[in-house]
This record gives sequence, structure tokens and C-alpha cells, in this order.
Amino acid sequence: MEKLVIRGGRKLKGTLPVGSSKNTALPLMAASILAGGVTTLRHIPVLRDTQTFSHVLRVAGAFVDVEGHQLTIDATRIEFPEAPYELVKKLRASFYMLGALLGRCGRARVSLPGGCAWGPRPVNLHIEGIKALGATIDLDEGDIVATAPGRRLAGGSFALEPSSVGATVNILLAAVTAKGTSRIENAAIEPDVVVFCEMLKAMGARLAGVGTRTIEVEGVDSLTRVNFANCPDRIELGTFMIAAAISGTPGERVRLTNARADHLGEEFLHIFRRTGTECVIGDTTIDVTAPEVLQPVSVTTSIYPGFPTDLQAQWTVLLTQAHGTSTVTDTVYFDRFNHIPELNRMGVQARVENNTVTVKGGSVLKGARVMSTDLRASVSLVLAGMVAEGTTHIGRIYHLDRGYERLESKLAAAGIDIERVQYDEFAAPPSR
Ligand code: UD1
Repeated sequence: MEKLVIRGGRKLKGTLPVGSSKNTALPLMAASILAGGVTTLRHIPVLRDTQTFSHVLRVAGAFVDVEGHQLTIDATRIEFPEAPYELVKKLRASFYMLGALLGRCGRARVSLPGGCAWGPRPVNLHIEGIKALGATIDLDEGDIVATAPGRRLAGGSFALEPSSVGATVNILLAAVTAKGTSRIENAAIEPDVVVFCEMLKAMGARLAGVGTRTIEVEGVDSLTRVNFANCPDRIELGTFMIAAAISGTPGERVRLTNARADHLGEEFLHIFRRTGTECVIGDTTIDVTAPEVLQPVSVTTSIYPGFPTDLQAQWTVLLTQAHGTSTVTDTVYFDRFNHIPELNRMGVQARVENNTVTVKGGSVLKGARVMSTDLRASVSLVLAGMVAEGTTHIGRIYHLDRGYERLESKLAAAGIDIERVQYDEFAAPPSR
């Protein structure tokens, strides 16, 4: 297995390039099978999740060719409209194949995702929404089996409660080639969804209201292949902004490139500035300058354009460096606090009560052996290791590799003492 070893206390400086969006890449890849023919997707991050999704597409019958950050997906033949448990359990977003396969083949057998590292993550809205379009749905041996009567869905209306990124994507994948019109109320307006809709439009889909809470779809007979570019990752951008705020030299800017500030959401930018951190937004850059003293700013996560749940673990680490006590409340996922016991091992003074963590800032963090439990939890441990005294060993970084491409090389090039090394998790401790 691999782990990251960070010798803390070095300052972040210079430039950090932001990678391409994972959460946008996955729906783009799903959409590629709606068109017969060869679709080219550019700026697809090289990550465990995108590799798993390529596998999902191959299982369905597509040929997927990966050349660096470019994917060529030949979906001329989609003969096996299935996404098996072995892949869905590794990557929940494989469930997008339900809408994509229904849209393309008029039938789909897709394994129902189970639980997630941070608690239940239901897909009831995906299923109910697709049912509302006219699909018949059965559960067979843990798989959802969906069929469009007469091979093509009729179309229909569905209101999401709560608004959901995944359900909006899945319903759209099924609706764009339906016979009739469809409407999604309380649709997600996250940039990931908006960019995905831009690809659908480029393929010939008829969509109105993209980026608003009501999306209307006029089904079309067929879609065409496209050559489409993915956008930068907004969560990696936010993570790097936090990194610069806590480990940049006060008064010296760290430049983040390939940055889409408009994808961050107003709330994050507003709250980030309230910590006293300077943040200058350019066309494709954000310059972040750490303050002498970070102010503690409590946050509550909510759907876009609110403070992203995917940045709350990282924000908790920022709050450990601020002077004063503050809180992080997650209203999107109530149980997403697996990182706290690991951070406690590094001296973080934080405790969880219901869906709120209270953080006492200003204490010195100490390097320790800690364990990744999920993607964003693991990057929060990296941030903590960067500001801790001594050496931090972060095990099970396969979680990190799901969503951050070459993180350690980027940080090392910007002054952080970090390396990836092999280890044996089950090795006996050294005898004394
Ligand atoms: C996506 C992101 C994930 C992020 C999350 C919230 C991807 C691949 N993942 O996940 O990184 O943390 O958005 O920003 O893009 N819900 C239901 N029923 C459903 C679906 C969702 O009740 O059928 C609830 C969820 O429990 C949650 C809320 O809706 O409270 C929003 O979740 P959703 O937007 O669906 O998250 P994902 O698309 O799974």
C-alpha cells in the first residue's frame, strides 16, 4: 500500500495548478454513450474514479482510449446495458449509467449502491425521477432493472426534494432522448451540472432553464458525438485556497492557476475573505495571501451556491489555525465527520455533536500516524500535516487518489516536504 509522509512546517509558495473537475468528468463520461459514434473528452483528470468509470463504460460495450487527459469513447455498440456491483460499490457515480443506458438502449440493469463511508446516501430520487419519465423499475438481486416501454421513455415531470446533483444528472441522461417533454423542479444548479448540460446541448439535446431550479427538456430522436472540454475542479481550488491561507507566508501571495472562481459559489469566497485572507481573482488565476492572524469563521454547508460539504473537512483544519473557537455544521451530510478522530490524534481540539463540530483554534498540531477514511477526509489530513510540527504519515491514500491528481507532486513543487512511499499496513511495530 502507499502512504504520504509529510514533514510539517514548510511554507507553501509560488504556484499551484488546479486539476480538472472529477465531479464534472463523471457525468460527461456517462453522457458519451448517448450518442452512437466516437466522443472525445478533453481535460479528464487521471484519477481512480475516472479510471473506474472508464471500466464501467467498457463493461457496457464502449471502447475507451485514454491518452493523458484525453478520453476517446467509441460508443457505436452498447450491447450490455449493465453496471455491475463490483464497479458500483467502488464508485457510486456509476449509478449514472441507469439514466444513460435507459436513454441509449431503453433498458438498464444497474447495481444499487450501498452505504458510503460517511453514512447513508440514498438514490431514491434518481429512481423516482426516472420512474416519473415512464420507466418501469424492479429490484432484482440488488440490481435496479429499468425498462422503457417500447424502448423509449415517454418523458414526465419530477420535483426533487431535496435538490440533488446526482438525481438531476441521472434524470437528464434519461430524459434527453425521451419521446416527449420533461421537467425537473428544484434541479441542481451546481457548476458540475451546468457544464454537463452544456455538453448535452452540444450533442443536440434541447434543454431550457439550465442553471435555474427548473430545467425543461424536449426529447430528441438522437444525439451526436462531440469533442468537449471539461472544466477545472472547484473543490481542488477551494482546497488549495485553504492550503495557501494556513501555510502560505503572511504577506506573500500564492498563485493558483487554472482557477474558475465563478464555480466556487458566493458563500465560500465571502467566508474565505472573512478569515482575513486576501484573495485576488484574475481571469484564470486566484492569488491568495495569508494574513498574520487567521480569524475564526464558522460555516454551515448547504447546496450550491452555499458553502460546499466537500470543503468542510478542509475548513475544519483552517479553523485549527485561527485564533478563537468556531464551528462547522454540515446540513447536506449529517455524519460526515470521520476525519475528526484522526485529526484529534494530531492534537486538534475538536468535538462532534450531532452534525456540528466545534473547533478550538490556536493549538499546536503534532505529526502522527493517521488514516484516510474518505476522499475529503484524507486531504484534510494532508493540510493538517503541512502545518503540524514533526512528521505525519497518512495511510490508505487510495481514498485521496480518487479525487486529487498528483497532489504530492504539486505540493512538493510549491515548497511542501511531502513524499509518497510504500508501506505494509499490517507490519508489526518495531520491537524496543
Ligand atoms: C455530489 C458529489 C459529492 C458532493 C455532493 C453534495 C459527485 C460525484 N458527487 O454527490 O462530492 O458531496 O454532490 O454536494 O458529483 N439525496 C436524497 N436522495 C437521493 C439523492 C440525494 O435524499 O436520491 C440527498 C442526499 O442525502 C444529500 C442531498 O440530497 O443530503 C444532496 O446530495 P446529492 O446532490 O445527490 O449528492 P451526490 O450527487 O450524491
